Amino acid sequence: PEPDAGTAVPQSGDPGLILLRRVGVVDPESLDDYRSHGGYAALREALRLGPSGVIREVSDSGLVGRGGAAFPTGRKWEATARRPETPRYIVCNADESEPGTFKDRVLMEGDPFSVIEAMTIAGYANGAATGYLYIRGEYPRALSRLENAIARARDRGLLGTDILGSGFDFDIEIRRGAGAYICGEETAIFNSIEGRRGEPRSKPPFPVERGLFGRPTAINNVETLVNVLPIVLMGGPAYAGIGTGRSTGPKLFCVSGSVRRPGVYEVPFGATLRELLTLAGGAGPAPLRAVLLGGAAGGFVRADELDIPLTFEGAREAGATLGSGVVLVLDDTVDLAAILVRIAAFFRDESCGQCVPCRVGTVRQEEALQRLSLGTGPRRTDLALLREVGAAMRDASICGLGQTAWNAVESAIDRLGVFGPEETTLKEVR
Ligand code: NAI
Ligand code: SF4
Repeated sequence: PEPDAGTAVPQSGDPGLILLRRVGVVDPESLDDYRSHGGYAALREALRLGPSGVIREVSDSGLVGRGGAAFPTGRKWEATARRPETPRYIVCNADESEPGTFKDRVLMEGDPFSVIEAMTIAGYANGAATGYLYIRGEYPRALSRLENAIARARDRGLLGTDILGSGFDFDIEIRRGAGAYICGEETAIFNSIEGRRGEPRSKPPFPVERGLFGRPTAINNVETLVNVLPIVLMGGPAYAGIGTGRSTGPKLFCVSGSVRRPGVYEVPFGATLRELLTLAGGAGPAPLRAVLLGGAAGGFVRADELDIPLTFEGAREAGATLGSGVVLVLDDTVDLAAILVRIAAFFRDESCGQCVPCRVGTVRQEEALQRLSLGTGPRRTDLALLREVGAAMRDASICGLGQTAWNAVESAIDRLGVFGPEETTLKEVR
């Protein structure tokens, strides 16, 4: 059998943890154990604060989305809650599919009741009676633990009608993905739940206005929702004191690759990349070449840049992104060109094909990278072609997949010089 979630958390049992504090400690199948470790205190506090009080705390906390895009959660909830249309919905995006991302899996397997409690609070704050949890099909253990948690919560009146005698009715349905990366895009999730083909919709309108079944919908990533529990308990301003001014709170990072203790790590925003790698036992055994930060849609950080702060701003300044918390460590034995070809093949494979820049661009990108990595074909022309295709995908694709499919490739060319210096301009090629 696969190792349990706690083993993926080398910090397990550390009393300073906030998001991971129960993972590897609590019995994930037991509601009583969850309660004895502080579970459901946040829901009681939320019911005391009232829906607008909860949203105020979330706004004051400065919490931003942990799926990758860092949109302010308070703004999302305010916009959903003030819409006049009913019913409204909340959706938990548990389709964690970004290569190198496994933090939501650890939360769902190791502390499933926290996800259910947080969704209940989100439903209360946003005026929703139904929440959908959309989980990737490749997470069977997380699925069964969540199903068990929902059933146990229903048994005890923590889901269903008149929750804790408050008059608030709320229940959760689970939907399973079937292996498509694009079904993690929020509007593709709506289509998938509605029984349609899982393709992204054009935005705007944003989900807060027209989401699931055309109704106002607050859709949040698993880690984002789990952050709501400490926010409600400690208060928004106290939470905002963790991290840095614009990146508040704790953050989970998925450290993998050439590192001694891979796993999920929790640090406050503002810790440096070097500190995170030290927690993970350091890079090795071979010398560090670069770190891919933010996943396939992110960018590369060089070995001489490890002192960058892990904040959204810090990552941007370093030409990367924090994305969903991927920290993929690459040593100097790694063939970077082969990795780029693999990333390009991934995007080509996972493009839904709905819009031309992405459908065609991801194919042309992979072809050019294959020629470059094998040393066949016109190098200067291919580098210029990659830039042109990349710009078209970024500017004209409908959704984030096409818009970011060239990010890591561009970063490797510009920041790591993976194919050597460019000696041509696009004009010369034309
Ligand atoms: P986005 O920037 O379009 O939107 C982010 C969120 O803010 C969405 O929920 C959107 O509805 C909301 N939003 C944006 N503008 C708004 C407005 N004016 N009013 C109301 N709501 C608004 O980004 P998207 O496409 O949702 O996510 C892209 C990110 O997803 C990338 O950064 C990537 O790192 C990450 N990603 C994560 C994966 C994972 O497995 N966790 C997989 C693939 C991508
Ligand atoms: Fe589909 Fe790619 Fe267009 Fe997104 S950008 S809608 S994945 S074809």
